[in-house]
Amino acid sequence: MITVIPTTVQMRGHCESLRQSGKRIAFVPTMGFLHEGHLSLMRIGRRMADVLVVSIFVNPTQFGPGEDFESYPRNMERDLELCRREGAELIFTPTAEELYSQGFETRVQLAQLPQHLCGLSRPVFFNGVATVVTKLFNIVRPHAAVFGEKDFQQLQVIRRMVRDLDFGIDIVAGPIVREADGLAMSSRNAYLTPEQRPSALSLSRSLTLARERIEDGLTDARELIQIVSDGIHSHPENRIDYVAVCHPETLEDIDTIDRTVLLALAVWVGKTRLIDNALLTP
Ligand code: PAF
Repeated sequence: MITVIPTTVQMRGHCESLRQSGKRIAFVPTMGFLHEGHLSLMRIGRRMADVLVVSIFVNPTQFGPGEDFESYPRNMERDLELCRREGAELIFTPTAEELYSQGFETRVQLAQLPQHLCGLSRPVFFNGVATVVTKLFNIVRPHAAVFGEKDFQQLQVIRRMVRDLDFGIDIVAGPIVREADGLAMSSRNAYLTPEQRPSALSLSRSLTLARERIEDGLTDARELIQIVSDGIHSHPENRIDYVAVCHPETLEDIDTIDRTVLLALAVWVGKTRLIDNALLTP
């Protein structure tokens, strides 16, 4: 049975009594408009705990001015049905007013990790994510929480935050789930027109090409970035935000690929900003 809870007090109470009765809680925080990527995280959570808790909340504090907070796709009825099918028991669906009371002024901020990749063009994003995830963790107090590797930088931010602030929560990573044609699943794929699909596919294709080039012995990160950028730019509608080869934990740029690196991309396809990444080992 699925229970939908909109208030913090009720959610905290339900989770507390689950813990009191010895249940292990896995938590999957989401912004809704669920797709197979989210469902795969729920399955991971389900396998490792007695109770699966999901939150559905489009968090305003992680959107900058002019970003897509208002238009972010939403479909609560469908999301709840998908959660039910995946065996989630508690679904937290707060409003922004519920989570951010009047006068809210506290922020959780990391010093270094947000200074790379998405943090450069989305300066408030990780601050908003770290703050809302802290709040959600404090309300649900899960034993484990599952995050997708598609948002690789977000995953590292959460891992660092959990270590730094002693949350005592296991952070589990779920692999990227792709459409049949290779496009990494994202709620924002809903913005793409059919005509934009080939441009969007250049992200995953360029990651495959990069993997091949590294397997062939390429070690120069600058050369790899050029190859990937050329592939993406071969679609005129694409505008690169970044193509980076970096250390998978610190996210600092790497010049020579002599160990496992993260190749991370953010590309505007028309008005839609897509991200994708791969861990590449020489
Ligand atoms: O990845 C997301 O959907 C969001 O950034 C998260 C972690 C639910 C925080 O709002």
